[in-house]
Amino acid sequence: MNYPRRLSSGANNTVIVLSDTEVAKLFTGDTRSDIGSEAEKMRFANTVNDLVVKFVRLDYSDELQAEMLIMERIRPIDYRAYEIERRELWYDVFADELTQLHQAGFVHRDLKRPSDLDGLAFDNILLTEQGLRLIDVGISALKTQVGERIFEKYLDVERDELIKFRDYFLNR
Ligand SMILES: Nc1ncnc2c1ncn2[C@@H]1O[C@H](COP(=O)(O)OP(=O)(O)O)[C@@H](O)[C@H]1O
Ligand SMILES: [Mg+2]
Repeated sequence: MNYPRRLSSGANNTVIVLSDTEVAKLFTGDTRSDIGSEAEKMRFANTVNDLVVKFVRLDYSDELQAEMLIMERIRPIDYRAYEIERRELWYDVFADELTQLHQAGFVHRDLKRPSDLDGLAFDNILLTEQGLRLIDVGISALKTQVGERIFEKYLDVERDELIKFRDYFLNR
């Protein structure tokens, strides 16, 4: 289906523009993910700090026949227009906020795309004038849901991806 005001199609879902300040991630019959769980993980992260995009509300569009996860619209800017010193500061804040989320029992799990998938490696990390933000909690996990052992495994991977992101963000 061709959606009006389509912003971007990521790996799984289509995201459309609703207004200057809001976008909606669409979940249709063939979407292989659960809107309720994604909304809940986003809301959880929002209680910890401002790193993850702000959840607004859930809705259903009769016109599009799609469930909509409505969230704050983020307007990314390009890293390369900013000096390394500024990027280092942004990175440090990002690393601190991500660690806060980890300590609260949230792991994002999708910082870096598997290298065999098309597209930008870190397309869920968006730079704004206010610093780095995270979108797409589709495969994120809460410690309360997956338990200590699995959560620790996920953290190992995420810490490694955070180091890889540093290299990518500061050296291009
Ligand atoms: N809150 C947002 N603000 C601006 N663009 C967004 C937002 N959420 C998603 N997008 C855009 O839509 C794309 C797909 O969204 P995402 O949540 O990453 O879904 P997928 O699971 O398909 O990767 C993103 O890569 C980004 O370009
Ligand atoms: Mg994505």
